[in-house]
Amino acid sequence: MTDKPVVSLRNLSFTYPGATSPVFRDFSLSVGGSEFVAIVGGSGVGKSTILRIASGLIKAESGTVEIAIAKEPTRRRRALVFQDGRLMPWRTVAQNTALGLEGLALSEAEKTRRIADVLALVNLSDMADRWPHQLSGGQVQRIGIARALAVKPDVLLMDEPFSAVDAMTRRHLQTELVRIWQQSGTAIIFVTHDIDEAAFLADRIIVMGDSPARIVNETTVPVDRDLRRDSQDLSRYADSVAGALDFQI
Ligand SMILES: Nc1ncnc2c1ncn2[C@@H]1O[C@H](COP(=O)(O)OP(=O)(O)OP(=O)(O)O)[C@@H](O)[C@H]1O
Ligand SMILES: [Mg+2]
Repeated sequence: MTDKPVVSLRNLSFTYPGATSPVFRDFSLSVGGSEFVAIVGGSGVGKSTILRIASGLIKAESGTVEIAIAKEPTRRRRALVFQDGRLMPWRTVAQNTALGLEGLALSEAEKTRRIADVLALVNLSDMADRWPHQLSGGQVQRIGIARALAVKPDVLLMDEPFSAVDAMTRRHLQTELVRIWQQSGTAIIFVTHDIDEAAFLADRIIVMGDSPARIVNETTVPVDRDLRRDSQDLSRYADSVAGALDFQI
């Protein structure tokens, strides 16, 4: 983790309208610049809610979301990737990728360049003019990631982005994501149900549990990224996370 946190969630409290108990109360989490943090936890514990608050989609009742990097007119501070890609069927791949660019201080030429750059990053340059229904599930996911990267976010928030794709595509997307993350230097908060996925991807794994939700376990994964696919060490870290999770559900 890089020294200074780039995103700080501080003392967040949140209750859905009409709900009898809060999802969390006084929840805090800091993520360093270019750190990769994975969040795991039982269904309904509040993982997606945390990402929605961190992304600004919904507002916490109390507490703050602080992004430590100065806002630039050509970038957004945060971008969210959903489980299902969320492409608009009436827009081409390039037009979908451009969605987040509206409102940024970019010329048409700069926008075109951005789109070309991120499509290249996810290895889909030749699909710019296709329609979403002409893509495979894994390609849809990669466009969702490209769209988020196009705004050059300081923090990329990902909510189970690979859960809807088959195991082989998933492995491939994981490898690609690490490569993209290393190239882009963005911080990532990645929610997943899959502990092995968390251990492969993350610098640090957070286990959420309890109600109201809190961080019940935190595991740093110091394994060399080049060795992660077949590291015995990695399964040790995954086991320790699984132990903390079993205790919760
Ligand atoms: N729009 C909503 N209105 C009311 N309650 C909601 C709403 N969205 C989620 N909840 C409730 O808030 C709690 C946290 O939901 P959240 O979606 O954050 O869980 P999660 O950890 O992402 O679960 P999963 O792993 O199943 O995706 C759950 O109890 C859920 O039922
Ligand atoms: Mg969720």
